[in-house]
Amino acid sequence: MTALDDLDLRTPSRPPLTGALPYPPHSRRAGSLRGSALADLVVLGRESGAVDLSAGVPAFPDPPQAVVEAAVEALREGLNQYDDPRGNRQLREQLAARQPIRTDPETELTVTTGATEGLCAAVLATVDPGDEVVVLEPFYEGFHAAVRLAGGVLRTVPLRRPGWRWDPEDLAAAFGPQTRAVILNSPANPTGRALDAGELAELAEHVERWGVTVISDEVYAGLVFDGRPHISVLDVPGLAERGIVVGSLSKWLAVSGWRLGYVRADAARTRALRKVHEVTTQGTAAPLQAAIARSGVLRDEGWDPAPGLAERRDLIQAALSGFGFRFHPGEGGCFLLADVSGVSDLRGADFCRWLVAEYGVLVVPGTAFFDDPEEGGRYVRVAFNRTPETLAAAADRLARGDRP
Ligand SMILES: Cc1ncc(COP(=O)(O)O)c(C=O)c1O
Repeated sequence: MTALDDLDLRTPSRPPLTGALPYPPHSRRAGSLRGSALADLVVLGRESGAVDLSAGVPAFPDPPQAVVEAAVEALREGLNQYDDPRGNRQLREQLAARQPIRTDPETELTVTTGATEGLCAAVLATVDPGDEVVVLEPFYEGFHAAVRLAGGVLRTVPLRRPGWRWDPEDLAAAFGPQTRAVILNSPANPTGRALDAGELAELAEHVERWGVTVISDEVYAGLVFDGRPHISVLDVPGLAERGIVVGSLSKWLAVSGWRLGYVRADAARTRALRKVHEVTTQGTAAPLQAAIARSGVLRDEGWDPAPGLAERRDLIQAALSGFGFRFHPGEGGCFLLADVSGVSDLRGADFCRWLVAEYGVLVVPGTAFFDDPEEGGRYVRVAFNRTPETLAAAADRLARGDRP
């Protein structure tokens, strides 16, 4: 159980009005959100001219030129008004055709404002206040936030170093009658792990036994390395029937500012999450959806940024291990989670500030990805979806600096 269990979401009974405001000017749910841990460090990185390996904002690949041209054309043509809140029809058809199982674009696929909105819609449509949600730790911080917004209770399953795998007993202990959902992310931010068939089959046993929904964040599905297959929950019997898959075009096409994601779920789950989606966004940018569909990139077998990203992973891994960081080699996605304890006694944000000051390289503290700040402080997350020049500059600085 986590600190979330202490979060009482009931509104306290109102004392008589005396003139002074007896409550904070925000809801308990909003007050319980952690907020972004990155803001201060990003400013520091910018001001210091550090080589920035902090956020996942893609500097690789370049967005496909055809996609950019199609967006300009769509805007000029006057595609500037509301579209179908479920998403551009052609885009839904193309995304549906890419799913590993038959997917009806009318009833099972929804275009969202990035995976961020897709995740929140999926969680809000699934979880009631007090329901438990199983999450593997370290986790992408958006999971924490979405569960809190829904008033759910996080049940974290610690992944064990060095390979970031769960202990089967920990996994089994996390499920119970209160469990409503499990949130997965493969390949994962921040660990770079891609779940294998054995892990997913083990998980399916618990999911079937307790009848829970699987919310599977597969935003890095197209970024798996070294010939590994991406295994979607839709490929796994027991998970597929209960799966809500959240996808994104942000990193794969390097259009993170376009805010384009999608959710694939069965018709009943889709009906519920579309209601949340309509209330919160009423659909995402119409011309940009049309641009992706018209560009044909989703049907282009030749678009594959994974090998280029794997080369960049190799560059940064060599630099990090030369410096003394320890980490599990990246299997997919665009991040590594590195243990700093072989490098310095500093932890968390203090370590990151020191690395900027002494070596001119900016990374983010691991604290945001763990419940326990002390445990998280042992790690930093490093983004490698960068140009080779940026990665070479980081390697050079790490090799050159004076170790205290
Ligand atoms: C695991 C994971 N899920 C979701 C997102 C959000 O994606 P989007 O840009 O589509 O909102 C990110 C972004 O970094 C992520 O790492």
